[in-house]
Amino acid sequence: MIDEMTTVLEPSALPDFVETSYIKDLTNRALCYIGAGFPVHLRGPSGTGKTTLAMHLASRIERPVVMIHGDEEFSTSDLVGGEHGYRIRKVVDRFISRVLKTEEDMVKRWVDNRLTVACKYGFTLVYDEFTRSRPEANNILLSILQEKMMDLPVARDGDEPYLKVHPNFTAIFTSNPEEYAGVHRSQDALRDRMITMDLDHFDYDTELAITQAKSRLTKQDCQLIVNIVRGLRESGKCEFAPTVRGCIMIAKTLKVRKLTPSRANNVFMQMCQDILASETSRVGSKTNQDKVKQIVREIVIQELGSNETVTAAVKVGQNDFHKADAEREIVQENKQKEKSLIEI
Ligand SMILES: Nc1ncnc2c1ncn2[C@@H]1O[C@H](COP(=O)(O)OP(=O)(O)OP(=O)(O)O)[C@@H](O)[C@H]1O
Ligand SMILES: [Mg+2]
Repeated sequence: MIDEMTTVLEPSALPDFVETSYIKDLTNRALCYIGAGFPVHLRGPSGTGKTTLAMHLASRIERPVVMIHGDEEFSTSDLVGGEHGYRIRKVVDRFISRVLKTEEDMVKRWVDNRLTVACKYGFTLVYDEFTRSRPEANNILLSILQEKMMDLPVARDGDEPYLKVHPNFTAIFTSNPEEYAGVHRSQDALRDRMITMDLDHFDYDTELAITQAKSRLTKQDCQLIVNIVRGLRESGKCEFAPTVRGCIMIAKTLKVRKLTPSRANNVFMQMCQDILASETSRVGSKTNQDKVKQIVREIVIQELGSNETVTAAVKVGQNDFHKADAEREIVQENKQKEKSLIEI
């Protein structure tokens, strides 16, 4: 029993988890489907928060969590369990605490694996990037999700060839439809048994809140960074759209280097160009990277333009600091309003 539990996670709240109304809405909808007995499938491009949301949902379900990452090499017996060689037992001698004896008993034994453990004890299964596994390996899930029965390919001595799935068993899947390699089209039969929620890049408030939570940078600097990343995304000219990961990387680097973004200082510009060109081009073609760097350059100059005006206002005098800070907020807010109007 204890051996079986080695891969089980506690359903605990995630550090720095941000819960904006966008996230709350997604969470409530997903929990509603799960409550009605359906597995949920979070599908979306890279960096849209699928894995994080899946873990958050799992923590809200408050049952132990079993996590599996989709893998081309997976076979059904990896998911279900099989004969895994010999048992090695470590024995700590209580009297001579430094002595660690390793005892090997040469008995081949059955090691339950994660999916079996989740089905048997009614845990929450998070199957991340499940479409990376070969469809044959995932076939085992069809009867688990539909008939609530798990076929055991090799029955244990005297056991039934199937396992009844525990009523508390829940499954949360994630997948990325735009991955260019190593993905199998999810089988229709499997997809029919789950409720798919399509995720897109975060809304402005969530992207800003995540950037701030992960970097602990000031709100103003995070707003600037988020505006740059969103500007590049909205340009639609990247091989892969930049994500909140780009925001987090720029913000963390800025924080560590204790830099204030400014036109006079080229370091911020270079940092944005390096990070965003790297994030948006996976093949690494030079022409593509140069194109992205040029777009980033234009956006940064444009964004810093308004920022510089405010920085100048800050210099007027210490007493004006709070006023200038408020003005800076208003400038950013107005910009945001303008953006929302354009979107409408
Ligand atoms: N609600 C949130 N609160 C705090 N951080 C978050 C939240 N959602 C996502 N993040 C952060 O955003 C980044 C991207 O999220 P995540 O890894 O969950 O995306 P993903 O869709 O699974 O991406 P991929 O397809 O590349 O695996 C991570 O650094 C994650 O910590
Ligand atoms: Mg993920």
